[in-house]
Order: sequence, then structure tokens, then C-alpha cells
Amino acid sequence: MHIKTLHLRDFRNYSDQSLELNPGLNIFVGDNAQGKTNLLEAIYVLSLSKSYRTGRETELIKHGANQTIIHAQVQKMARLDLAVQVSLATSKKLLVNQKSTNANSFVGQLNTVLFTPDSLQLVKGSPGDRRRFLDIQICQIDAVYRTTLLKYQRVVRQRNSLLKEAQMQRSLVKQVPVWDTQLVALGSELIWRRQEILSILEEFAQRAHETISHELENLQVAYAPFFAANTQEHKQYTLAEIEQFFWSELKDRREEELRRGYTLVGPQRDDIIFLINGLDLKTFGSQGQQRTAVLAYILAELELMSREAGEYPVVLLDDVMSELDQTRRSFLLSILNRKAQTIVTTTNLASFDEKTRQEARVFRIESGRIL
Ligand SMILES: Nc1ncnc2c1ncn2[C@@H]1O[C@H](COP(=O)(O)OP(=O)(O)OP(=O)(O)O)[C@@H](O)[C@H]1O
Ligand SMILES: [Mg+2]
Repeated sequence: MHIKTLHLRDFRNYSDQSLELNPGLNIFVGDNAQGKTNLLEAIYVLSLSKSYRTGRETELIKHGANQTIIHAQVQKMARLDLAVQVSLATSKKLLVNQKSTNANSFVGQLNTVLFTPDSLQLVKGSPGDRRRFLDIQICQIDAVYRTTLLKYQRVVRQRNSLLKEAQMQRSLVKQVPVWDTQLVALGSELIWRRQEILSILEEFAQRAHETISHELENLQVAYAPFFAANTQEHKQYTLAEIEQFFWSELKDRREEELRRGYTLVGPQRDDIIFLINGLDLKTFGSQGQQRTAVLAYILAELELMSREAGEYPVVLLDDVMSELDQTRRSFLLSILNRKAQTIVTTTNLASFDEKTRQEARVFRIESGRIL
């Protein structure tokens, strides 16, 4: 799939900007603070219905304006018209072919993979960072997963406030089990699905990684559920096994949960483990090894989405060329150029070789205007 046209109305530092994109490579060149990341953010909002940079959506509205509209024509098997409208006065509107729709049917229409310098947090960051990366991918290809995730998060919130109140009011303790059935059922679904998707991602990532590292190193990516946090063994669990371990952890930690006043078990405590030649990449990997693994993982996301959605997603690369050496750079671009529409930002056009520049459509960004 690819974006044919994009229109930004009062989005961040853009007033009224129309744009025609190349189905292949698009390079946006501009100095700092001109609107490069803003542009990618707008496309991301069209994909996930919300921003990755802020939870306060009115920040997206250009200072002084009352509302922002992002609008794109997307070419998939069919033509698709997508729009997001955020305004100060009314709630957010999501439109598919001019018809208002909910987030669950909006997300997944335009698929994207985002790669920024922050993507290194996939390896270096917290377990929460890693889970978020994975959830963002699965939500785009599986609307049921997205619904389950939202329901589960609500159950955890409600169970947490009950556990907190029960610290003051002991009689509330007997209400906790009311939430346990849902906690285990929804939570186990999430763990099972994440584990399944991650094993597909691992296969694709291994292949990409072999190519980048010239087969010198072996990458493993494993899902580590909370109940297996202390084991070194990484296996695939069946849904029944997951539920069984979940219940037993829940029983074991009941007292501690009551004492501490929040939920201590569940997929909100899971992690993803990256191993290079059997060693934990977070602890033992060099910067270069970490970058290579993240790059391989991003390419794996691309393959996963193409497999699950039937078409390659749009790839958004924010200022990552400077993070990669020449070999990784040309490897990345050569793959992307053959497969997916790619939108890349840079402060320095010289990070691209002559051939790449010729194949690409090059745009300049100057204080919220694209030239
Ligand atoms: N709601 C808004 N209204 C007007 N301007 C905004 C708004 N939000 C952000 N900006 C402006 O957008 C500019 C930053 O844009 P952006 O983050 O896209 O820069 P960039 O080109 O990616 O820069 P860098 O190379 O430093 O990453 C800043 O000048 C900021 O003040
Ligand atoms: Mg930026």
C-alpha cells in the first residue's frame, strides 16, 4: 500500500500543506525544528489514530487554530480516503471514505512501521518499551487483539483500585476474585497472541540479521511471560498452559497483592528477550550489535505486516540515517526501495548516495512548508 496524496490543515507547524508522494522512496530534507518529525507524526496518526509523541491530542492543533485535519488518499487493492480531525471544541473524528468510524475499524487501514533514534529503546529500554513496540504492530493487523488489550487494561485498572481500597476496607477483599476470571482469560489471550506473533517476527528477523551480520552472528528473540521470568528456557506455551501458570501465580501472590495494593501478575509484566549468540543483547551487546538487531526487527515487522495484511506497510524513518553506518544504510534502503513506500527525513542529503537520490523524490522542509 502507499500514500498518494497528503493534506495537512493546521497540523503542528503546518498551515495548509498539500503533498503528492512517490510510491517508492521519499526524502524530506530540512534543518532542525522545521517540521520533519511533524510530517511523519501526521502519517502515524492516520495509521494508529493517535500520536506516539503526545497523549494530549490538542497539541497537534497549530497554535492559534481551533482544529486540525489530516487527510490522505491511500492506494491499496482499492483506493482509500482517510482523515483524522482533532478540534478544541468537539471530540476526535476518524473518517474512512468520508464516513465517520471508530478507532477499531480505523486502525489497520493504513499500516506503518516507524523507525526513529528512539527505536533503539526496543533493546536498551524498559520491558514496557518492548511490549509497546509489539502491541503497536499486533494492533495494526488484529482488531480482536486490540479490543482484548483495551478490555484487559480496564480490568487491571479496576482491579488495582479495588486492591487499593481493600487496604482501607478489609471487607472488599472478597470482591477481588470477581475480577480474577477476566484477568486470567483476557491476559492469557494477550500472552498467547504476543508469543505467536513474536515467533513469526523472530524468523524474519533472523533472516535479515544473518544478511546484515554476514552470517557471523545469530539472533534470537523470545517472549518471556511474567510466570517464566526466572527461567532461562524460552519455550512456546499453549493457551491452556498459560492459563494454568497464570492462576497459580495469582494464588501465590494474592497476599502480596493485597499488601501492596496493585496487580502483580499478568502480561503487563512480561518482557521480550534479545539474544546474540546466546548472550543477552541488552547487557552484553555492543552499540553496533544493538543497532543491527533493531534494524533486523524493523525489517521483520515489515514482512510480518505484509504476510498478515497482504501488502507492505508504509515505512517511516525519522532521522535514522545518521545512526547507521554506510553498509547498514544501503542495506536498509535497498530492501525498502524494492518493497515498500518509504518516507525518510534527514538534515543532510549527503547521507544518501547519488543513485538513491536519483531514484527518490526529494522534498525540502522550511518552517512548516514543503517545497
Ligand atoms: N501545535 C503546534 N503549533 C505550532 N507549532 C508547533 C506545534 N507543535 C510543534 N510545533 C513546532 O514544530 C517545530 C518542530 O517540528 P519538528 O519536530 O517536526 O522538527 P524537525 O524538523 O523534526 O526537527 P529536528 O531535526 O530537530 O528533529 C518546532 O518549531 C515547534 O515549535
Ligand atoms: Mg525531528
